[in-house]
Amino acid sequence: MSSRRRFIQQSVAASTGVFYIAKTSWAKSPGDSINVAVIGFNGRGGSHISGYKGLKKEGVNVAALCDVDQKVLDRGLSGLDKDKIKAKGYTDLRKLLENKDIDAVSIATPNHWHSLASIWAMQAGKDVYVEKPVSHNVWEGRQMVKWARKLGKIVQTGTQARSSREGIFAAVKWVQEGNLGAIKLSRGLCYKRRASIGKAEGEQAIPDTIDYDLWCGPAPKTGLTRKKLHYDWHWTWNYGNGDLGNQGIHQMDIARWFLGEMQLSPIVWSVGGRLGYEDDGETANTQIVYHGYEKAPLIFEVRGLPASKDSKDMDKFKGAGVGVIVECEKGYVVVPSYGSAIAYDPAGKVIKEWKGADDHFKNFINACRSRRIDDLHADILEGHLSSALCHTGNISYRLGQQQNPDEILEKIKGERFAAESFERMKEHLAKNDVDIAKGKLTLGPVLKFDPVAEQFIDNDAANAHVKPKYREPFVVPEAV
Ligand SMILES: NC(=O)c1ccc[n+]([C@@H]2O[C@H](COP(=O)([O-])OP(=O)(O)OC[C@H]3O[C@@H](n4cnc5c(N)ncnc54)[C@H](O)[C@@H]3O)[C@@H](O)[C@H]2O)c1
Repeated sequence: MSSRRRFIQQSVAASTGVFYIAKTSWAKSPGDSINVAVIGFNGRGGSHISGYKGLKKEGVNVAALCDVDQKVLDRGLSGLDKDKIKAKGYTDLRKLLENKDIDAVSIATPNHWHSLASIWAMQAGKDVYVEKPVSHNVWEGRQMVKWARKLGKIVQTGTQARSSREGIFAAVKWVQEGNLGAIKLSRGLCYKRRASIGKAEGEQAIPDTIDYDLWCGPAPKTGLTRKKLHYDWHWTWNYGNGDLGNQGIHQMDIARWFLGEMQLSPIVWSVGGRLGYEDDGETANTQIVYHGYEKAPLIFEVRGLPASKDSKDMDKFKGAGVGVIVECEKGYVVVPSYGSAIAYDPAGKVIKEWKGADDHFKNFINACRSRRIDDLHADILEGHLSSALCHTGNISYRLGQQQNPDEILEKIKGERFAAESFERMKEHLAKNDVDIAKGKLTLGPVLKFDPVAEQFIDNDAANAHVKPKYREPFVVPEAV
């Protein structure tokens, strides 16, 4: 152990779900190296590995890799080996976290592991970069914030658009200075093709390279009822959060960023369906979420089907497909990417443009050294709030009932922006030959939410989704 690393280990308290608590008494100075471990890298984690490899000159070492799939682990280690990087390999993250040489972990596991892995890592003295959504439910996201603050850990959310400083950050600032007057509506869009994942016949065999008990972790351990174990979990409620909590969280975050809201919304409802095909997925592929913030609503639209049946194109609205549109009194701003924004006057003439994206991993490392939360572009609190806006939207959807379009319109017509979104959703589904007249759309209840307690008001069914039951011993610690 190097002299700058002095860990004071405290008790192992398995009964409370506390893995162990370690405190660091050191701060990074510019010359110190930082040893990073990447956890989960079948897909996105690969970008984490290359991101940190690219920071070698900044003193960053990819010192360990961890994946519950031995095949993925071997692939990762041999990739590093080719670059003459000797990293340690682990399949069990608890073993990795015992390694005192690791300063920070970078988590790209499925969503149901994000909170527990992050909190265990913080308790073991590590800083954390965690992918979006940072949580799988509302409660555990807030637990992450509490643990980060209690232990003084640096926790970055994997919403890399937050590192677009000369791009989106500058546009947010410009709008918040009032250059377009007040915001009337912040609209997030996730028009991204999501094809059927097929239908598995019966329970599927678990590949023998995967420790399935560890893969399931805090979530229920059920038989595998989809063809592909990796990635397609996004579309099942036990492990994923649909495209709202997958691609959509990036745009949800940007939409909330413009509004400057630092609490969850007091009113939320959602309408949608999994339409156009029948497969093993459970989450909506077509959805609208309405967040009734007092100053201006935030509306989110998900479309996984193409612009029309057999088309390869996706819809666009005001120039954005996966993006954000901020409607203001004197014009609007479109954020069509992770690194740019354009302001228009009411007639659609461009007024101003912003562009630029910085390295989100580098920002994390810089904050690990400075120990200043304010240096982070996407602190865990931001990650929690934006992830939870996806969760509360999904909760309304999951509590909903199938209704026909006229009944739905009758109930939402008082909210003109939402009614307009719904009309466009109807047109989009008609172009995909989806017959919603027969009640295939699900309208969720209008839910009242207490943004301070982060609980729904007088609604046990909704609150049951705020905090689930965890599977022992993978329990997100209650006490902070
Ligand atoms: N920021 C971005 O732009 C971006 C892009 C893509 C994905 N993501 C996020 O990254 C995460 C991973 O997505 P993916 O598409 O790579 O999923 P994936 O299923 O392809 O990969 C997940 C990997 O994690 C491993 N894993 C599961 N449980 C583990 C555990 N307990 N310990 C160690 N490894 C474990 C799996 O074996 C797999 O190799 C998701 O949360 C997703 O939302 C972010």
